Amino acid sequence: MSAIRVENLCCTYGANTPFEQHAVKNVSFEIERGDFIGLIGHTGSGKSTLVQMLNGLIKPTSGKIYVEDNDIWSEPKNIRNIRFKVGLVFQYPEYQLFEETVEKDIAFGPSNMGLSVEEIENKVKNAAKFVGLSDTLLKKSPFDLSGGEKRRCAIAGVIAMDPDILILDEPTAGLDPVGRDVLLSQIAQYQKAKNNTVILVSHSMEDVARVTDKVMVMNKGQLKMFDKTDKVFSRCDELNEIGLRVPQITKVTDALKNKGFDIPEGILTVDKAVHVISELLKKEGKL
Ligand SMILES: Nc1ncnc2c1ncn2[C@@H]1O[C@H](COP(=O)(O)OP(=O)(O)O)[C@@H](O)[C@H]1O
Ligand SMILES: [Mg+2]
Repeated sequence: MSAIRVENLCCTYGANTPFEQHAVKNVSFEIERGDFIGLIGHTGSGKSTLVQMLNGLIKPTSGKIYVEDNDIWSEPKNIRNIRFKVGLVFQYPEYQLFEETVEKDIAFGPSNMGLSVEEIENKVKNAAKFVGLSDTLLKKSPFDLSGGEKRRCAIAGVIAMDPDILILDEPTAGLDPVGRDVLLSQIAQYQKAKNNTVILVSHSMEDVARVTDKVMVMNKGQLKMFDKTDKVFSRCDELNEIGLRVPQITKVTDALKNKGFDIPEGILTVDKAVHVISELLKKEGKL
């Protein structure tokens, strides 16, 4: 059974007005349970619209979305339940914090799920741990947190609902490089520990290359590619054509390969490149 499947999904904003905008055009795909997916594409390519449709916040203009084989719009009055199953962390989620304490903010989602006080407490604790928020921070006002901590608090609020599918829309945007690295590692650890389906929307090819198994590429509302991460990043020319790029390390190793060095295509991380190049040097007796 797939975690999520979409068929011929379309979303048009302002239909039949001068502002008509076809944000998502005829997109179909299937995501397996436990997949860690990267979603990349230019600003305006339809990524945020697509992920908001996946958790029922935006109703598609046409097309179907199946979560565990159930059409999510078959009973529109139950659409709220989909938001517990498919958790979405918005772009810049820190603007949506509103409770008196961090703890209460994280508890907001689970409190609406009909759970006992103990269960809610447990979920809040676990979620805070996953995103690295210490117990002392839980009692503070979310408005007294740093930018990075606010972001973590908002992510914890979605994780606390224990969604089967977690979608993060540009979770590292606007954070400093260290903050980005730490948060990305925590998301990767969460995905490994829970073996959940995770969709990571990102502008950073390096981030996507580092943590995801598969990549979707959106361009002008269409799904252009959907394949294993190394396969997608070995299509350097096609990505360049739509104004995207491969990770820098992939560019370097592909250039070496084109010069005749015996190294594989689509190397995604600096660590892997170091390994492959040192092996090659050893083989040639140069190391
Ligand atoms: N609420 C909205 N009303 C009208 N147009 C919108 C709205 N949200 C997004 N759009 C338009 O839809 C297209 C896709 O936007 P979006 O899904 O936000 O893309 P991305 O997340 O890839 O930047 C863009 O042209 C954008 O201007
Ligand atoms: Mg967006």
